[in-house]
Amino acid sequence: MTRKTYEELRSARWFARDDFRGFGHRSRTLQMGYAPEDWAGKPVIAIINTWSDINPCHQHFRQRAEDVRRGVLQAGGFPLELPAMSVSENFVKPTSMLYRNMLAMEVEETIRCYPVDGAVLMGGCDKTTPGLVMGAVSAGVPFIYLPAGPMLRGNWRGKALGSGSDAFKYWDEKRAGTIGEKEWAEMEMGIARSYGHCMTMGTASTMTAIAEALGLSLPGASSIPAADANHIRMAAACGRRIVEMVWEDLTPGKILTPAAFDNAVTVAMATGCSTNAVIHMIAMARRAGVPLTLDDFDARSRTIPVIANVRPAGSTYLMEDFFYAGGLPALMTRLEGRLDGSCLTVTGRSLGENIAGAEVFNPDVIRTLDDPIYAEGSLAVLRGNLAPDGAVIKPVACDPKFHVHSGPALVFDSYPQLKEALDDEDLPITPDHVLVLRNAGPKGGPGMPEWGMIPMPKALLKQGHRDMVRLSDARMSGTSFGACVLHVAPEAFIGGPLALLRTGDIVSLDVPNRRLDMLVSDDELARRRAEWSPPPARFGRGYGWMFSRHIEQADKGCDFDYLRSDFGASAGEPDI
Ligand code: FES
Ligand code: MG
Repeated sequence: MTRKTYEELRSARWFARDDFRGFGHRSRTLQMGYAPEDWAGKPVIAIINTWSDINPCHQHFRQRAEDVRRGVLQAGGFPLELPAMSVSENFVKPTSMLYRNMLAMEVEETIRCYPVDGAVLMGGCDKTTPGLVMGAVSAGVPFIYLPAGPMLRGNWRGKALGSGSDAFKYWDEKRAGTIGEKEWAEMEMGIARSYGHCMTMGTASTMTAIAEALGLSLPGASSIPAADANHIRMAAACGRRIVEMVWEDLTPGKILTPAAFDNAVTVAMATGCSTNAVIHMIAMARRAGVPLTLDDFDARSRTIPVIANVRPAGSTYLMEDFFYAGGLPALMTRLEGRLDGSCLTVTGRSLGENIAGAEVFNPDVIRTLDDPIYAEGSLAVLRGNLAPDGAVIKPVACDPKFHVHSGPALVFDSYPQLKEALDDEDLPITPDHVLVLRNAGPKGGPGMPEWGMIPMPKALLKQGHRDMVRLSDARMSGTSFGACVLHVAPEAFIGGPLALLRTGDIVSLDVPNRRLDMLVSDDELARRRAEWSPPPARFGRGYGWMFSRHIEQADKGCDFDYLRSDFGASAGEPDI
């Protein structure tokens, strides 16, 4: 392997030149108290930290950045912590998805404009993993992904509580009147009791697992609970390893091959992944120049069963149990023969070498392909006259009786309108109805909020029903469950066929045959289309205005059109 020389590093253009600019860069580095011993001949490592005071999932990142720094120094690098937008899932309104691409742009441009030779990306909360990875892939320097790690299990009266999933579950019970204020208040105290991201197999755990399967994290990194001392050591190891990656010129383009994405799709299916994985993986792949489509996910879901018994797809266990059971490397050994073990990873070794010797310590948590928790993969892609460009459902997380279902639509055009109806105990609705929410897609939401697990109507909860078919152009939280058809594309807001559906039309869902249709004639649909006019624009200025003009549909990954790798020629490196 050829190694880079110091003069070939990007940062040498800032620090090693004997010219007026070099004088400026060195004098200003000296101003911060650094001496030439700190930088001369050393790669500059950016520690891209998404810590903030309002992100509980990343609360430990202030300290972990110091651990990464320790590793970088040990290996002879020059660490510089560069903060990036935190995108805290719980607090960002109207939806964190509005800001994933903003984070990606910030990361790409931060790396490009500063003397950065390599980066450690610190993320974990839902949108931060894809945002950081998308930006760093476009920047093209070697990087390593440091996942925040899941928080500890929740606890309520000695029972484990799962992030999101149990909040949704017990909220329905509270609305049905089966639990009271006291129990609900106790849960509020117990469901999130340490730093770290959601500890169900929600979007956070899904995306960090995908990053590891792609070869972007150290082996096992994504499964370590945030509060475990292994996590501190892993952070320092990331710091040590990235310095070597710079010398080896191990750029993301060498890791993110079509085979690597293939592996990640397989792993996603086997973990019982979040529906959001589809959108984020397509976006990441398009940044890497890899053509990944909804059909690739569907094809894989027919052959790879769900073997991670982690909620919400599984019935009992959480990420802490998954770690004790051996974590992701152990799960990947169970996929032997289904993964391409030759793919290169950040370790400089292959995926197969990384996971060799990993063991499963609890066969109920990490199952075998012959004894899965669900015989097919986590997700199914549907098409039909309601979703010509696709829709997504998570069959493993819904009552199987809804896999084939027809029923009359009850259509809502906005979330406030829907919310009011759901609390109406006299709402004329049956368990066979299909609840529809539209104008909640990438442009309409705006930002495609996680409204897709439409709460059960109070009228049905009181009768004992806990699931029904729900349909939207929104996303849903990875911790959600239920017969929810999501990501309908094209979205209603831009005139997708969902905009033409009316209350009372029969909607037909057929998961085994991957169909989603409205039983309305083409002539009638043409009549309705002639009458349709687009809703008023959501934004008159600012970021939202730019977002609305450039956001792509769900089946394309919701990236901005101008950020795709094939959009146009890059400006290249600034040579000044
Ligand atoms: Fe951060 Fe769930 S809120 S991962
Ligand atoms: Mg989430």
